[in-house]
Amino acid sequence: MTDQPADLNAKFQKRIFSGIQPSGNLTLGNYLGALKRFVQKQDEGIETIYCLVDLHAITVWQDPEALRRQTREAAAAFIAAGIDPARSILFNQSQVSAHAEMGWLLNCVARMGWMNRMTQWKDKAGKNAEKQSLGLFAYPTLMAADILLYHATMVPVGEDQKQHVELTRDIAAKFNHDYKVDFFPSPAPLIEGAATRVMSLRDGSKKMSKSDPSDASRINMTDDADTIAKKFRKAVTDPEPLPETLEGLEGRAEARNLVNVYAALADISPEQVIAEFGGKGFGTFKPALADLAVSKLEPISTEMSRLMADPAEIDRILGVGAEKADAIAQPILAKTLDIMGMIRSR
Ligand code: TYM
Repeated sequence: MTDQPADLNAKFQKRIFSGIQPSGNLTLGNYLGALKRFVQKQDEGIETIYCLVDLHAITVWQDPEALRRQTREAAAAFIAAGIDPARSILFNQSQVSAHAEMGWLLNCVARMGWMNRMTQWKDKAGKNAEKQSLGLFAYPTLMAADILLYHATMVPVGEDQKQHVELTRDIAAKFNHDYKVDFFPSPAPLIEGAATRVMSLRDGSKKMSKSDPSDASRINMTDDADTIAKKFRKAVTDPEPLPETLEGLEGRAEARNLVNVYAALADISPEQVIAEFGGKGFGTFKPALADLAVSKLEPISTEMSRLMADPAEIDRILGVGAEKADAIAQPILAKTLDIMGMIRSR
């Protein structure tokens, strides 16, 4: 791709944007890979914009009533986990129409070849590409639109979204190059911590996902204490005790995953987990992990239930967030249209 000037991002204020699809229960993967880190970024005092990407969710079938409920539930999860709507902008994507408009503009910048290389598209479409929605194919350009619409410079995500953020950089670079401007920043993916790719509890080679048909494969943020304990107890592992060193986890994907999850939940390093549990069997480690997970997730799910009892208040918060987001997005969309040669006479 075209090189961007080295100091390009210096022109832009630091701003974080990220999103989560409200397409089902949020999982421990979403929490550790994204939500927990969203809260940390907010608490570091950086400007933070967080979006429930309902327009992305409908790239595969969503029951309308379920989508509304899941969007409110995801908003409740954000707030319960520590996102403060007074300090972060929290909104659902479809309330800010500039996302769809910018998505179209960037569809005309991105190349088919780039989109065809997206591994998530290939995984999701599988052998059935012909039967997928056009939206699913164009999904990454809408994601680029989400990010570039706010001139965001940093995008905290899990490992699986890295390629989409890199595509966003390519789209920004092509736009800047084609129109001879320094208009879009080159946003950096922030993939940090011990749990950037939480794996399925049933299969250490698969990502933990809200769309996995097996509920036992994931911890949902709304699971109660007994369910969490049961799922960790039944998590697939090998029969060996935990090794005495981190290197000993090589080739032991399931054990490695549980160590990473423990580290991320406890805010310690995987080395520290091994220092504490090395030589101990899963009969000791799994209950300790379950207790830790319950102690972190239960207060959040209790607060989520409380918030869900007042859906009108959640809708109000999302409406206020959408207004704030719109105020940033509209001038950037208007300028993009202007750069591209559209008449702006009203
Ligand atoms: P989504 O909804 O699949 O996931 C939301 C966030 O959770 C992270 N994540 C995980 N992290 C670690 N381990 C896992 N097993 C795991 N599963 C999910 C994801 O990496 C992501 O950070 N395309 C995005 C949503 C999106 C977006 C954006 C993100 C739309 N527009 C703009 C950033 C910026 C997605 O489908 O995420």
